Amino acid sequence: MILSSVVKTAIALAMLGYSAASPTPSSSSVADSHPTVPNELTLGVKQVPNILNETAVDANQVAKGYSLTNVTATPRGLTGLLNLKGATNIYGYDFDKLNLTVTYQSDNRLNVRIAPVNLTDVYILPESLVALPKVEGDVNTFEFENSDLIFSYDSENFGFEVKRASTAEVLFSTKGNPLVFSNQFVQFNTTLPKGHQITGLGESIHGSLNEPGTVKTLFANDVGDPIDGNIYGVHPVYYDQRYDTGTTHGVYWRTSAIQEVVVEDQSLTWRALSGVIDLYFFSGPDPKDVIQQYVKEIGLPAMQPYWALGYHQCRWGYDTIDDVKNVVENFKKFNIPLETIWTDIDYMDTYKDFTNDPYRYPTDKYQQLLEELHSNNQHYVPIFDAAIYVPNPNNATDNAYTPFHAGNESDIFLKNPDGSLYIGAVWPGYTAFPDFLNNKTQEYWNEQFKTWHDRIPFDGIWTDMNEVSSFCVGSCGSGRYFDNPVHPPFAVGAPATSYPLNFNVTNATEWASISSAIAATASTPVPEATSSSSSSIDSKNTLAPGKGNINYPPYAINNAQGDHDLATHAVSPNATHVDGTVEYDIHNLYGFTQEKAIYNALLNIAPDKRPFIIGRSTFAGAGHYVGHWGGDNSADYDMMYFSIPQAFSMGLSGVPFFGVDVCGFNGNTDMELCSRWMQLGSFFPFYRNHNVLGAISQEPYVWESVTEAAKTSMNIRYLLLPYYYTLLHESHTSGLPILRSFNWEFPYDKKLSGIDNQFFVGDALVVTPVLQPGVDKVKGVFPGTDEVYYDFYTTEKQNFKNDKNETLDAPLGHIPLHIRGGHILPTQEPGYTTTESRKNPFGLLVALDKDGKAAGKLYLDDGESLNVTESLYVDFVAGDNELSVSAFGDYKVEQPLANVTILGVDKKPEGVKFGDSKVNYKYEKGTVYITGLEKYTKEGAFAEEFTVSW
Ligand SMILES: *[C@@H]1O[C@H](CO)[C@@H](O)[C@H](O)[C@H]1NC(C)=O
Ligand SMILES: *[C@@H]1O[C@H](CO)[C@@H](O)[C@H](O)[C@H]1NC(C)=O
Ligand SMILES: *[C@@H]1O[C@H](CO)[C@@H](O)[C@H](O)[C@H]1NC(C)=O
Ligand SMILES: *[C@@H]1O[C@H](CO)[C@@H](O)[C@H](O)[C@H]1NC(C)=O
Ligand SMILES: *[C@@H]1O[C@H](CO)[C@@H](O)[C@H](O)[C@H]1NC(C)=O
Repeated sequence: MILSSVVKTAIALAMLGYSAASPTPSSSSVADSHPTVPNELTLGVKQVPNILNETAVDANQVAKGYSLTNVTATPRGLTGLLNLKGATNIYGYDFDKLNLTVTYQSDNRLNVRIAPVNLTDVYILPESLVALPKVEGDVNTFEFENSDLIFSYDSENFGFEVKRASTAEVLFSTKGNPLVFSNQFVQFNTTLPKGHQITGLGESIHGSLNEPGTVKTLFANDVGDPIDGNIYGVHPVYYDQRYDTGTTHGVYWRTSAIQEVVVEDQSLTWRALSGVIDLYFFSGPDPKDVIQQYVKEIGLPAMQPYWALGYHQCRWGYDTIDDVKNVVENFKKFNIPLETIWTDIDYMDTYKDFTNDPYRYPTDKYQQLLEELHSNNQHYVPIFDAAIYVPNPNNATDNAYTPFHAGNESDIFLKNPDGSLYIGAVWPGYTAFPDFLNNKTQEYWNEQFKTWHDRIPFDGIWTDMNEVSSFCVGSCGSGRYFDNPVHPPFAVGAPATSYPLNFNVTNATEWASISSAIAATASTPVPEATSSSSSSIDSKNTLAPGKGNINYPPYAINNAQGDHDLATHAVSPNATHVDGTVEYDIHNLYGFTQEKAIYNALLNIAPDKRPFIIGRSTFAGAGHYVGHWGGDNSADYDMMYFSIPQAFSMGLSGVPFFGVDVCGFNGNTDMELCSRWMQLGSFFPFYRNHNVLGAISQEPYVWESVTEAAKTSMNIRYLLLPYYYTLLHESHTSGLPILRSFNWEFPYDKKLSGIDNQFFVGDALVVTPVLQPGVDKVKGVFPGTDEVYYDFYTTEKQNFKNDKNETLDAPLGHIPLHIRGGHILPTQEPGYTTTESRKNPFGLLVALDKDGKAAGKLYLDDGESLNVTESLYVDFVAGDNELSVSAFGDYKVEQPLANVTILGVDKKPEGVKFGDSKVNYKYEKGTVYITGLEKYTKEGAFAEEFTVSW
């Protein structure tokens, strides 16, 4: 499903308040006395993206390529010399000699590296920033026949090919297309089979497949979720699933460069604006193998604390600490589980990091609320912005902001090319940006976080704006920070006027009253960025020595900002790090390096507690430190749908702990959408409702029917917490995602390849959400000729046919959920919080397959230690009318096992035994319900091995 990106972007921008509409008074009383960042400082230089420029030179046609000489075999592959056949200097200066190194790193991983022989001014991504896959085993020997990948090349017109030995299929081939390698433009073009199935190349709001015609721009961008445009994170990896041979491989380009990938009918063209080619081929052969092979190399996902699985409530617009307290109390009043309450920038003192507003969030009341939360086993997570406020030296009160002074004294902020401080603008006004390449930054960071945490003992960090975003172009605050604090250069917090599709049908009266208001504002124009030059000092000084024009590279990417300028809504490419590295080369890593530093700062506070961080801008390997939310979506059905392919894409990129703003961020939501979304969101690893300033409230207690829908789903989620925690651990140890797509579960059935409106949780649960308004049925597929599926709610075996689109009842308040036969799911009786849930008895859901067999597992530990010393692994196996349970590990579970429910038992058993003891049971419609097992498991559910037979 592809909607017009232009329309959606316009809507998103309008919602963000980019319109020239009159500024709305903010709730802050001091706000109105501040000046605003002048609008002209926000205007970049209009760029025509290369892919939209009809007269642009086609590098593939014009470039003359390289010839390969001096090929020498090495114990693990070969090396050779590539000689430029004629300079064309299309988008930069061609390198005349390149070094080709091919290395079989392991049985399933092949590395092809092409770098200039003369590396002066060439950016080489260091291992300290992004993990570097290494040769496994003895570097001097390799059994080439153990690899399923065969490398070959053409010499005269250099091109290379990777074939799969077992199928003789060409997986990748640049033969016939010239390699282009210049200082500001590196390109290769590989063939793809007709009807290819390419996934990955995130982050973007897009269906799960990158169908022909897709262009993926990989440049971290602060923008409200435009469809098909580049958004917050960058994951330069794609998976290529071949149904004709039933194999999948992955291709990872380990580069932090600005990139663009053109996917066509039978080719994929990958472009980077700097750096070297460092490609890794993962041979699979199943999609789940490829995911594990890739994620293991970039960094296995973080083990989140147990409480991260609870329900999270947030909004922008909890204006005071009393508002927050009310929300917490309302959840309790309506008995809706609330694990964690979050606050957006409202809590800050004029939006400055490490502060709290003395009037709206006074420290004593703030601390008191946190104390209450903690004593109720609840948690609190504040937002944190990437930029540090530069105080006004002419105002003593303002100037008392030590986080800036401490950083400035340690000299750890990004610089302009002339060595002066780079000053952009974010929420508080003019700001500086910590340089995470500077060794001293971590110490500074540790100190600031520790001081803040000593005062406000938060439980995790939500890190925003770390693309890294800046609201003006260039170092706009140079010489202007005397104006601080200043407002952002656009209106903030105007009442939201849009409502979801179908709102007028479901909320007829409410609609009538607001529609006139909407009509009045609907035509608010989104300003066209003009080509007038920016007045900030740095856009004029963009020629980096030896690097060319880095602010306006000769190849213009399709950056999803109105004027496509790389410095619009981002720190400028010429901002400079301590070692001379320019943002141009590592812009895509800013968020990742910041998240690592926050991770370390949280460990500095609590050395053995798993840091809980939700980050916005991610890169390959970020999942090792953070989870991710989908960013600024909007309250509409299409965004609810896109959350599913976004979850798949983040999962295969090693960031499985993912969720989006449930009920929608931008715009107003409504009862129907919020009801559907609260239910869908409850199955995502990260489950948080979040809302924009100015929109109507959307906590699940706002509408009675949403309360009921949310409670129903939350009850299932909390019941399944042991299953989710086990999946979290599996993900942490293997790299496998938690939400799984049909094409990973059934990799040989091409008809399933594009399915992204249904998903699996682990291997055992199928979720079929309603993604449209005004319906009470939903279609779904339930694949496999040998599979058995059970309705989760009725436990009845379904008569689903493979290859058939089934129609399911899905009235509002009901989300179809099915258990796949062959699986055993551990459960625990839900409590109000995850802590309380963990004090309740366990249960087991045994869903037999067609042969009466099933298996499952459970992982448990204390739920918070970073270095786990005591853990518990439980194996469940069922077959021949018997379930056996065995456990190993030192972690003790005190809670008993209360019940076992067995699905798919064809006839009523004559008796049921726990070990040798006859136990009570009930048989109904193919399900055996065994209860009252507590008396046999008093020492703890898994303290001893046991069997249950029927
Ligand atoms: C389009 O591409 C051509 C050839 O590279 C270039 O000369 C021209 O400036 C580009 N047009 C724009 C508007 O950038
Ligand atoms: C990639 O190569 C194919 C085959 O030569 C060609 O048809 C296609 O236009 C090329 N794509 C790009 C973006 O250069
Ligand atoms: C490549 O081979 C040529 C001819 O044998 C030789 O002169 C040259 O030194 C070699 N270059 C390298 C970098 O090995
Ligand atoms: C080519 O690259 C390899 C691996 O980076 C390096 O070991 C080798 O010295 C390089 N050779 C030349 C001629 O630059
Ligand atoms: C490498 O390139 C730099 C910059 O172009 C040049 O100054 C230097 O002489 C070159 N080195 C060699 C060994 O060719």
